[in-house]
Amino acid sequence: MIHESVLLEETISNLITNKNGSYFDGTAGFGGHTAALANGLYSSSRIISTDKDQIAFRHCTDKFSDDERITVFNTSFVNINVLSKIESVSGFDGVMADLGVSSFQFDDVGEGFSYRENSPLDMRMDKSGGKTAADILNKYGEKDIADILYKFGEEKKSRQIARRVIEKRNNSPFESSDQLKDLLAEFTPGHMLPKMLSRVFQALRIYVNDELEELKVFINRAVDLLNPGGRICIISFHSLEDRIVKELFRYETLDCVCPPEVPVCICDKEPRLKLITKKPVVPSAEEIKKNKRARSAKLRVAEKL
Ligand SMILES: C[S@@+](CC[C@H](N)C(=O)[O-])C[C@H]1O[C@@H](n2cnc3c(N)ncnc32)[C@H](O)[C@@H]1O
Repeated sequence: MIHESVLLEETISNLITNKNGSYFDGTAGFGGHTAALANGLYSSSRIISTDKDQIAFRHCTDKFSDDERITVFNTSFVNINVLSKIESVSGFDGVMADLGVSSFQFDDVGEGFSYRENSPLDMRMDKSGGKTAADILNKYGEKDIADILYKFGEEKKSRQIARRVIEKRNNSPFESSDQLKDLLAEFTPGHMLPKMLSRVFQALRIYVNDELEELKVFINRAVDLLNPGGRICIISFHSLEDRIVKELFRYETLDCVCPPEVPVCICDKEPRLKLITKKPVVPSAEEIKKNKRARSAKLRVAEKL
């Protein structure tokens, strides 16, 4: 199994409201959610799936080549508006995303996301362009590196780490995950190192892929494109992502955003969503036992008014 889908049943049962409808899976990955969605829909339904990663895209194109209802694209989910036009879909009955990287991307050394095995410091989901994690460490200024580690990894030693990166890169530019791992080992005892590694690698990955900004744009565009009664389901894996989903969903439920000192509402805000999950859905103990990656997953669902 290259990737075990997380919260599969919970997501699909919340997502499907119209078995003849049009659906969008923004993070096709290895096609687990797309396949389960297709299984729950009738023959006249449509599914657009997309993934930034070239390997995931090729895998899904092949996997769904016999299902005429499914079209797979190799682009970011922020392009949901463009893809809906290309495919002549005027509105979706369900939009989903299962954020982050797949187990395949994480475990495959060539993909450059992992710190478990020595791998190139790449971390781009879309390898056709953009800066790699090594570019950031080798070219950015000390303050910018510190800010990235703090903002996207909540790493408290961000300033000291950034200073050391600048010192080290003059002699040996960063190329591999082991170089970064060795540097971080100077800042924490061995038993705390895995936590620091995940914070720092998470920060670089989020920055390299512009994950938080893309998530905000995606949710906004998805809500624009949902049909009344259509649902949006987002699975997140860390608090920075979950906060964005929670806050944007909540904002879309509000009928007024005027400051409290304004006596009469002047904002003309219209609510566009109602929350289906007041608290996020989390995986069962049984799912976590089978799939460790599921342990931090949170599913939030909302419905277009
Ligand atoms: C957790 S995996 C999805 C797994 C999939 N749901 C399954 O069951 O096989 C996340 C996938 O989303 C992709 N991804 C992350 N951010 C993306 C974005 N902004 N646009 C498109 N794909 C993205 C990653 O490349 C990765 O393949």
